[in-house]
Amino acid sequence: MARLDGRLRLGAFLSGTGAHAGSWRHPQADADASLDFERYRQYAQTLERGRFDALFLNDNVAVGELDPRVLRSSGYSLRWDPLTLLPALAVVTRHIGLIATANTSFNEPYNIARTFASLDHLSNGRAGWNLVTALIGGENFNHATHLPHAERYARAEEFFEVVTGLWDSWADDAFPLDKASGTFLDPARMRVLDHQGEYFRVRGPLNAPRPLQGWPVIAQAGSSEAGRALAARSAELVFTAQQTLAEGRTFYEDIHQRLALAGRPAQGLKVFPGLAPVVGRTVSEAQEKAEQLQALVDPEAALKALSFLLDIGIDLARLPADAPVVLPDPVPLTERHKSRQQLVVDLIRRENPTAGQLLRKLGAGGHRLLVGTPRQIVEEMACWFEEGAADGFNLLFTHLPGGVDDFVEWVIPELQRLGLFRREYEGRTLRDNLGLQHIHNRRFMG
Ligand SMILES: Cc1cc2nc3c(=O)[nH]c(=O)nc-3n(C[C@H](O)[C@H](O)[C@H](O)COP(=O)(O)O)c2cc1C
Repeated sequence: MARLDGRLRLGAFLSGTGAHAGSWRHPQADADASLDFERYRQYAQTLERGRFDALFLNDNVAVGELDPRVLRSSGYSLRWDPLTLLPALAVVTRHIGLIATANTSFNEPYNIARTFASLDHLSNGRAGWNLVTALIGGENFNHATHLPHAERYARAEEFFEVVTGLWDSWADDAFPLDKASGTFLDPARMRVLDHQGEYFRVRGPLNAPRPLQGWPVIAQAGSSEAGRALAARSAELVFTAQQTLAEGRTFYEDIHQRLALAGRPAQGLKVFPGLAPVVGRTVSEAQEKAEQLQALVDPEAALKALSFLLDIGIDLARLPADAPVVLPDPVPLTERHKSRQQLVVDLIRRENPTAGQLLRKLGAGGHRLLVGTPRQIVEEMACWFEEGAADGFNLLFTHLPGGVDDFVEWVIPELQRLGLFRREYEGRTLRDNLGLQHIHNRRFMG
């Protein structure tokens, strides 16, 4: 395992009160995490003490399933606006990267380019943008229904071009701020974008300086065919959700092949599968913790929520508790989250679970739940790294702050003791710490 030489990278995927369907009811959980800033300040500072590369806030622009049975017991309907929360976290932290989802379906590229450029300066080069096509929310943005998957991705491709073009509006030395000569900026060091495309007409330039990192780190989180194509062209961090090592390796190989075809170097993209650890000092303590979480889940509501996410044409809550889930034939193709639907369909075909078993397995937002001692969790992480399925992980904590505290107190020291993870931050920016290159301005080369 020592081969890793401290190179494992870690992101913290934070969401509401935690990633488990039972999270907010846990005795060690802050049920008000999405209401009280002090909570997130504390999580961010604990993660920074644990030397995490980044924290990541996912986002949706809708409440999702409105069935009262689901709503009543779910902590997911409430969340901070990530681009309001991250600037506040930027001023109470110094090292940890700050990554936010901003969807390309219901935003405008100019606003997003500007906000992330500002966040990058405010945080001294720690910003990252998770570029996704919105999972839900069309009805809140003037559409009768959600936008079709292919259209969302077509818009995302062009959105990326415009945002990155706007970030290159100014050379790094475009602002001499010379009081003596009266030269605030040098117009010769400015480029007007003049983008005219299918979805956007944007003249530019951006009224923000070039981000400190060149561009904020670009993350991407949809693994469908269209999502992988976009990632190969644009992403430097890819967030995924594979359940098995074999799936992880297949994805990793596929994305690297696409990367090579796009003419990009292998070290320019890091794959972070999601992992939801339940840590105990002994195996039985870890299992008890997992049982305690499971007991807090309202099964009917959670199964309904899962049915909404999977969109496979059946209500899992209506199935008999002890019978295996029978998939419709053919499985109706979702327009929402294609790769997640596929992962779960594969899991059902592979393991033939009952609805209850499926719920236990996918209790952490569909990401892989790993119950064990610090040593077991570390071994599993090292195995995925060494077998070519991960460059690091996005850790989802079952509840906040308990899940973060357990990981930082027990797992991080074990990773460090085995030489798998840093003891101090290597660099100043998120790019430095992730081992990603600064992005030079394409319009002012040399
Ligand atoms: C780790 C992870 C994080 C994600 N975060 C978001 C998010 O914050 N907001 C969102 O709308 N979709 C998020 N997604 C889902 C997809 O990016 C999005 O639904 C996309 O529209 C379709 O994904 P697909 O390419 O797999 O079909 C996430 C997916 C993964 C695996």
